[in-house]
Amino acid sequence: MTKDAWGEEGFAKSWDAVNAARDNPDRANQLDILITLLEGVKPDDGWILDLGAGSGQVETLIFERIPHARVVCLDSSEEMLKLASKRLSVYEGRYQPILCDMNDLKEVEFPRAPYSAVFSSQALHEIPHESKQAVYEKVYGLLRPGGAFYILDRIEPRFDDLPDDYECVWNRLNRQMDAPMTFHEYRERYGGKDDYPAKLDEQLGWLAAAGFAAAPLYLHYNRALIAARKT
Ligand SMILES: C[S@@+](CC[C@H](N)C(=O)[O-])C[C@H]1O[C@@H](n2cnc3c(N)ncnc32)[C@H](O)[C@@H]1O
Repeated sequence: MTKDAWGEEGFAKSWDAVNAARDNPDRANQLDILITLLEGVKPDDGWILDLGAGSGQVETLIFERIPHARVVCLDSSEEMLKLASKRLSVYEGRYQPILCDMNDLKEVEFPRAPYSAVFSSQALHEIPHESKQAVYEKVYGLLRPGGAFYILDRIEPRFDDLPDDYECVWNRLNRQMDAPMTFHEYRERYGGKDDYPAKLDEQLGWLAAAGFAAAPLYLHYNRALIAARKT
């Protein structure tokens, strides 16, 4: 079983430079939908929180498209936050990093809360399901009334039950890629990974239990974007 080594400089740099896009051929489209949703945040609504913010790729898109947006970037990897500080240095005052583990948010003092919106891109599958449920409860308390919670994440695949169908759509997704990955390589990498992608129904159930109204607005291959609102 492979495990992502977010704490290692080499792993962090190569994810940032190559794997973020290569392992997820529709990532640009997914992020475009996410940023479009975040464009609804008004200048006076307050800061946004990003859970598992990583190297700041998403913040660059946010700051380019939403001139008033300000983001608290939480991540447990110093190496990823270092890459983010470098990338986001031109956006001084609009970005605040916090080094913190999503598995343990209970006692964390969250700067700039309450938030207008909270989102997480490709990070919640890194923590066990019990931690996800605790995160959703925490996020509910950190949001302003009516605030939005957007989850973009990998969901549990069913490679063993539907291998031909997964291969067919994977090959379609790779048609436009400069350095396509074979389905065999993808399945090896993601079929037995030491992480915790959840089923879509599980995610929706946990969000409802935390008090959110939630619906999936994007679902393609093993990636979903769920929009949730604090009711
Ligand atoms: C696939 S990257 C996504 C980065 C960024 N959200 C993006 O889409 O560009 C996953 C990120 O989650 C972070 N991460 C992993 N486990 C974590 C945890 N337990 N607490 C906080 N961050 C975590 C990693 O350090 C990494 O930066």
